[in-house]
Order: sequence, then C-alpha cells, then structure tokens
Amino acid sequence: MLTPAVTKARGLADLPPVQSDSLLQLIALCDADPRPEKIDVGVGVFRDGAGNTPILKVMKEAEQRLLDTQVTKAYIGSAGDKRFVELLRPILLGEHADDDRIAGIQTPGGCGALRLAFELIATVNPTARVLVGTPTWPNHPPIINAVRLEVVDYPFYERGQGAIRFDDMLAALSAADPGDVALLHGCCHNPTGADLSEDQWRDVARVVADRGLIPLIDIAYQGFGRGLEEDAFGVRLLLSTCDEVLIAQSCDKNFSCYRDRLGSVFLKTGSASATATAMTHLLQRAREMWSMPPDHPAACAHIILEDPELRARWLVELANMRDRINSVRARIAAADPRLAFIGRQYGMFSMLPLSVEQVVKLRTEYGIYMADSGRFNVVGMSDGEIDRFIAAVVEALDA
Ligand SMILES: Cc1ncc(COP(=O)(O)O)c(C=O)c1O
Repeated sequence: MLTPAVTKARGLADLPPVQSDSLLQLIALCDADPRPEKIDVGVGVFRDGAGNTPILKVMKEAEQRLLDTQVTKAYIGSAGDKRFVELLRPILLGEHADDDRIAGIQTPGGCGALRLAFELIATVNPTARVLVGTPTWPNHPPIINAVRLEVVDYPFYERGQGAIRFDDMLAALSAADPGDVALLHGCCHNPTGADLSEDQWRDVARVVADRGLIPLIDIAYQGFGRGLEEDAFGVRLLLSTCDEVLIAQSCDKNFSCYRDRLGSVFLKTGSASATATAMTHLLQRAREMWSMPPDHPAACAHIILEDPELRARWLVELANMRDRINSVRARIAAADPRLAFIGRQYGMFSMLPLSVEQVVKLRTEYGIYMADSGRFNVVGMSDGEIDRFIAAVVEALDA
C-alpha cells in the first residue's frame, strides 16, 4: 500500500519570535530597575512637574457627564463619532475646515489613522513608495511594511549638529516618482524635535506638488509645540498646495487620553465626489480592521469641544502642558552650550549627541533611561529630577 506523502502543515508553534520594539524593551528594563531615584525619559507620555501623567480635569468632567447622560451603547458605525470629527475640523484644518473636498473619520488613535491612510494608498497604488526621513518614529516603517508598500529612507537630521538635513530632504523628494508618498511629521518631530520652519514647509510643499507626490502628514502632537494654530501650519499649507493630501491625526496627547485611543484620518482629493468615493474605501478598510473605533474618548472630546466653558478649560490645560515642555527645554538648553539646540526644538522629544555606550552608562550608573539613539522625553522627568539629569548628561558629554 502506498503512503501518501503528507507534509506536515505549519502550525502556530512554528512562528519565530518577533524582536519587540526597542522602546518597549526600554520600558521593561526601566520597570525592572529597583532604584527609586531612576529617571525614565524613554517613555512617550507627557508628565507634569510632579512626574505624573494625570487625566485632564476637563476630561474627568466630560467623562462624568457622559456617564450621567449616555443612554445607549449601541454600535456607532465605522466613521466613529461624526460630531467629534466635525468639531475637530477647524482645529486641524483651519481655513480649510469648510472645504467639501476634505473628509475624515475617527480612528483608534494615530496608529489606526496611519494604518488606515497607508491601507488606502496600497489600495489605489500598491507600487507607491513611501519616502521617510530618518530617524523617524520607530513604528512608521512596520506600519508601512504591513501594507506591503516600499519604504525609501532619506537622511532628515544630523544629530551632532542638532540640525535638519534640509538639502538632502529636498533632493530625496525631488527624485521621487509621481504617486509616491511623502510621510511628513506635522509638528513636534518624534524623535528629533526638529520641526521645519515656515519657509522650509513652503519649499517642501512646492516640491511635493511639482513632483505629484501625495503628502501624508502625521500630526500627533498638535498644541505641544508652539500652539494649536502654529503647529498646524504644515498641514494647512499642504492642503492649499496639493490636490491630494492624507492626514493621520492623534488626540491621544493633546487630550491626554493615550490608552483610550483617539485619532482621525482626513483625506483631500481634487473634487468632492472623488473624496466621497475615496471615503467609501476608507470606511471599508476600517470595517475590515476594527469595524468601529472606541466610542468613549471621542464622546468625551465631543463634549469638551462642544461646550464653550469646557473647551476654554481644555485650551488652558493644553497650554499648561506646552508651557512645561518649553520651560524644561529652556532649562536644559541654558545649562550647557552643547545642549542649546534643545531650546530651539519642539515637542516632547530631542536627541542627545551621545554614543550607545554613553547612553548605556547613564542607564547603569545613574538609572537614567533613554533610547539607545539618545532620544529622550524632555518631560519624562519631574521638576525635582531635572538638575540631576542635566548634570549626568553634561558629565557624559565631557567624558
Ligand atoms: C509621530 C507619532 N505618530 C503617531 C503616533 C501614534 O499615536 P497614538 O498613540 O495616538 O496611536 C505617535 C505616538 O507616539 C507618534 O509619536
């Protein structure tokens, strides 16, 4: 009797381990450090002067109102909370808020927005390449790879000089093909803190439009840099300059609701009808991935933005977060000329010109945890820890 040649099917046990995100590894290392005086500047959340990431007072109040008034938890639909998206439009899009060629939906955070935006690109043009300035947020390449689009790196930042390699950036964008995607950080660049000046944005917008590229702007920190309006300069300029634009937005930082997952994706095409059709694809992709975004954070942001008193209080709490970021930056920058560049950068992150050995030494000898790249969160430390942090960094730079 013949035995059929059966090849054993691959099972779940055949999966190789995945190397976890380096930032997640850093969190685990820091958690395991028993020293009470350890300083965690690897973390990616805002901390106040006492070293806490509190829930905003307006958010607590909105949550209470929601608890008191919500009468159903029936499905909300793939677009999420439509009123939230409507209220967000003027904040994000400014003078473009009423443009019917721009439409958006709520997503589970900025990650969901990015994934959905890249899904749409992969749907329309699977051979599009995505131009990514390096260094970038470490989760960008995996999200792009997940939709099988090709990543093309170009050098964005010179760490030793604390400066943007703007000529290299323009050269890379100028060499791209029509239909390629330019991934741009809207503000508060993560990990470098190096934001484009308004003139640089103008040059980028011109090249992107001339080359027929699609700009995809990731804006996860609006309001953490110079202000809500100022931080949206690049988004609005590209909307003025280009027919087709994608925006992946996050409210997880500016509403301090990280774990609740609040974001949105907006798209612009050359006509309202093309936008309406593109939105059907966006909704379909969302339906396939998460079906519907979580209601809770959008319902709360909706309550805050709709109520003039709560909205005004949100703006104050947001300004307080921004002021802390900028005052810690100023304090570090004033401590040593080699750190002066930190005072010219925006958002929670900057990169120290330290070798991996120096970063590891700060970790082992001082319990100061930052990414191997030298990226640190300027508001990862409490007010009481700033001087100790600066002294250790200056010592490392001197060594
Ligand atoms: C540049 C950038 N984009 C997007 C995100 C995603 O934010 P969310 O937590 O809303 O998914 C982050 C979060 O750290 C980020 O730094």
